[in-house]
Amino acid sequence: MRSGFTERVEAAFASLPAGARGRRPSVGIVLGSGLGAFAASVRGASAAFASIEGFPKPTVEGHGGMMTVGGDVAVLAGRVHYYEGHEPDDVVLPVFLLHRLGVRTLVVTNAAGGVNRSYAPGLLVLIRDHLNLAGFNPLRGPDHGPGPRFPDMSTAYSPRLRELARQAAGEPIPEGVYAALAGPCYETPAEIRMLAGLGADLVGMSTVPEVIAARSLGIEVLGVSCVTNMAAGILDQPLDHAEVMARGREAAPRFERLLAETVRLLGGSLDAG
Ligand code: HPA
Repeated sequence: MRSGFTERVEAAFASLPAGARGRRPSVGIVLGSGLGAFAASVRGASAAFASIEGFPKPTVEGHGGMMTVGGDVAVLAGRVHYYEGHEPDDVVLPVFLLHRLGVRTLVVTNAAGGVNRSYAPGLLVLIRDHLNLAGFNPLRGPDHGPGPRFPDMSTAYSPRLRELARQAAGEPIPEGVYAALAGPCYETPAEIRMLAGLGADLVGMSTVPEVIAARSLGIEVLGVSCVTNMAAGILDQPLDHAEVMARGREAAPRFERLLAETVRLLGGSLDAG
């Protein structure tokens, strides 16, 4: 990150309402597109992104973004993406803020294209590993935060948390490798064949920068994708954002149940009580 990033995190923390700053949530949740409703199940102190010092403002999801801290959980509804024109520092600032609040376990969710031909729209997949093909690394720069210069990424997605999520699902749930590209266009069929050859099962435009940041901070990560569409060229139909969002909305209740049950198995509560 740029020099001064650590001070930026402190300023963001200091600008939070006292009700949010005073808690020490242990679990952070980043909600992907279409999952914003989950935030309503968390009761506690909320802060609009616009009210948090130096916080980026999401441009795509129809609302400005909201952080809610309730019980042991801090939820971010509305993430910012590199394709919106945000700097890598902006994309990972929310994760550093979660860490500053006390978060040591991060659940990241997203909508993804299915590269693996055995997948189908609506499927939930636990992320086992990733390919960072987004063209940048958020830790580049003079300020790498409190973590090491060269963080280990060999178990970026915690096997323990994947096992927990499997228990939470109560039904078989596949694991896959998530490839992150910068976007914002969807991929070409040739790119999807390349990704399949590289071992990707899922493709998307988010998550990986946040996970790199979280791992550098020693945060244990669970990543869950919702396959909203088969990736380009697999089916004989063009990709359409409205269609992707509609499939995401259909899967949201199942996705939210999985999140709530995973938090419960983590020993967390969603209520300020
Ligand atoms: N490609 C990239 N990102 C996505 C896709 C896709 O097919 N679906 C949802 N997010």
